[in-house]
Amino acid sequence: MAGLSVSMEINGRAVGPMEVPEYTSMLDFLQEYLNLTGTKLGCGIGVCRACEVIVEGDDGELRTLRTCINNVGRFNGKKITTVEGHAQRNADGDIESLSPVQEAFLRHFSFQCGWCTPGFVNAATVLIEQLKKSPVAKDEVEATIDGALGKHICRCTGYVRYFHAVRDVIESTPGLLKEGD
Ligand code: FES
Ligand code: FES
Repeated sequence: MAGLSVSMEINGRAVGPMEVPEYTSMLDFLQEYLNLTGTKLGCGIGVCRACEVIVEGDDGELRTLRTCINNVGRFNGKKITTVEGHAQRNADGDIESLSPVQEAFLRHFSFQCGWCTPGFVNAATVLIEQLKKSPVAKDEVEATIDGALGKHICRCTGYVRYFHAVRDVIESTPGLLKEGD
């Protein structure tokens, strides 16, 4: 079977070069080759976005990308953040503190089974990073959150609490709202 050699940076650590079968999805690469099982398989056809990770583009901008429908080769040479990469960890790898988005999801009881949560964490984090560069008017916050998270499916229907948590982060983080709002 034809192979593919891939290397990338995941959660700040260099991975590869590694040989994988040519038609390996990024989701399988994370789970089966790297044991990063936090990224979840939901629908497997690109609809639910449970499998999204963060990819840093060549322009330095962060974007989310679905790992179930994208070949690992698409991530070759990129910087990736998975849900395992958000918390601050000590030298032993133990979690010392969660990210503001993760803290807010806990505080608001946003998730139930948690299957969709990695996708929501990544999408919300990308939104927060974008707002640091381009703040939003207060009356546009709801629509902005909807634009970032609205395509994510939660089978436990926790949407309202996810949205409230992200609004909380936006309103409590200096610089994310336009001046005067
Ligand atoms: S598992 Fe990838 S979009 Fe649903
Ligand atoms: S918390 Fe269960 S699918 Fe969202």
